[in-house]
Amino acid sequence: MLELTEAKNSELYWNKIHTNYDRDNIKVDDWLDRFDSIIVNCKSPVLDLGCGSGNDTLYFIEKGKRVIACDQSRNAIDNIQKNFPEVLEARCFNMLDEFAFADDSFGIVCADLSLHYFTETDTRMILNEIHRILIPGGHVFVRVNSVKDVNHGAGQGIEVEHHLYRTEDGMFKRFFDEEDVRRLFAGFDILFCEEQKMLRYSAEKIVFCVCLRV
Ligand SMILES: C[S@@+](CC[C@H](N)C(=O)[O-])C[C@H]1O[C@@H](n2cnc3c(N)ncnc32)[C@H](O)[C@@H]1O
Repeated sequence: MLELTEAKNSELYWNKIHTNYDRDNIKVDDWLDRFDSIIVNCKSPVLDLGCGSGNDTLYFIEKGKRVIACDQSRNAIDNIQKNFPEVLEARCFNMLDEFAFADDSFGIVCADLSLHYFTETDTRMILNEIHRILIPGGHVFVRVNSVKDVNHGAGQGIEVEHHLYRTEDGMFKRFFDEEDVRRLFAGFDILFCEEQKMLRYSAEKIVFCVCLRV
């Protein structure tokens, strides 16, 4: 019951964030450049999981990829449909529900700042689904909050599980250290794992950037 409340709060929160915006407002950052050879060689569709306003969707479109963009927020998906008519599909979909994609559907799953909102059990369930829908040899690109991300809430709120906090907005937010990354993503080959600063937001943000392979 507790998790249902957090999930509902999360949906309400992100719907408020994803108000109407135009394609001109969407800026890509360069975090995916280091995976360029994987992206260039990928011939299967790309899933942008928790796409939000579509920063990474735009990046993959500009690389000529076939993209399916998903988010729990109806507003986010309406914006994607309006701003990026090139996408194969924009689907309103909650990761806590079963992923309605066939096995081996995607060459890449991109989960940028969207996998740090869940209990460990739910995170594992989501990662199992990501594994299932990727082709053998497929890749996952992930950025998740670091425990050092103090400008964005690290260590704040009620700790309900190791490194998982209930925020003032009534949502869950997880902050990872390297041990968490290696434990939670252990079902994949971890090809790359680096703690980085990112500058998309006004205050500096610290994340783990990770590349996984099935
Ligand atoms: C910090 S934003 C990141 C958006 C985008 N990936 C980016 O980097 O700009 C997190 C996104 O994850 C989505 N999200 C959070 N929980 C979700 C869930 N259970 N199912 C689907 N999307 C979810 C939110 O709606 C939000 O758009």
